[in-house]
Amino acid sequence: MLMQLREVTLDGPAITAEEIHEGRDISADELARTPREYQELMIRVLIGHAQGEAFVLNDDVYAKWAAEAPTAQKRFTVLRTIEEELMHARESWKLLRQIRHLVDIDGLVPYQPSTREGFQHATPTWGEHAALCALTDRVGCFQQEEQLDCSYQPYAEAIRTAYFPFEKRHAGRGRHWLQELCETDAGRQEAQSAVDVWWPRALDMFGRADSTRQHRFIYYRLKERTNEARRQAYIEVVGAELVELGLTVPDPLKDRKFL
Ligand SMILES: [Fe+2]
Ligand SMILES: [Fe+2]
Repeated sequence: MLMQLREVTLDGPAITAEEIHEGRDISADELARTPREYQELMIRVLIGHAQGEAFVLNDDVYAKWAAEAPTAQKRFTVLRTIEEELMHARESWKLLRQIRHLVDIDGLVPYQPSTREGFQHATPTWGEHAALCALTDRVGCFQQEEQLDCSYQPYAEAIRTAYFPFEKRHAGRGRHWLQELCETDAGRQEAQSAVDVWWPRALDMFGRADSTRQHRFIYYRLKERTNEARRQAYIEVVGAELVELGLTVPDPLKDRKFL
């Protein structure tokens, strides 16, 4: 990930880590006056969106189902999701351009193969597409619900208006499609196989339990819970929903890569 912070002359007093920790919110204009560590954490998040959301254009994931979903209505819905994910990418580009006096984004490209577990596997069946949306977009929801009032104001505003409402819809679409599949025995089997594959990938997306960076995010009020606390909350809530659909929740440790 490319991140080149520029040396800038401060146009006011420096804002300390303690001030942010204790409740001081930060505007785009003020970001240059915050600690480098805070700038880097926030810019890392923005670059993640700016480069990562376009993975929906991969031809073996969303783009495949935009063409091959079983009905025209479903193809339309998949296309809508693609459009909304690209809007998420554009939103981050906008937030990065606001601070380009501080960060050099000239070398940044809108598409980079992602290292995130949920963004690098094909979805060979419709059931897997449904599970991908139901489970991995839901991971995004668990993260973003903690950021609705995070300390960096432009991002908090974007979470409230551009990201969170749409990730909830994406996850809802996936859940609806899983529910539809579960109406027949063959469909339920397809849904179960898909959930078996995507459950560990979704759980991995929360990150390692012993990550050191997570504590800095929490300190600066950019996140609220540790990776493991967020993952356990997800297992409890989303696991119960799968059971409601008549599905079995896979062992949370099976096939996991990032513990
Ligand atoms: Fe998104
Ligand atoms: Fe999404």
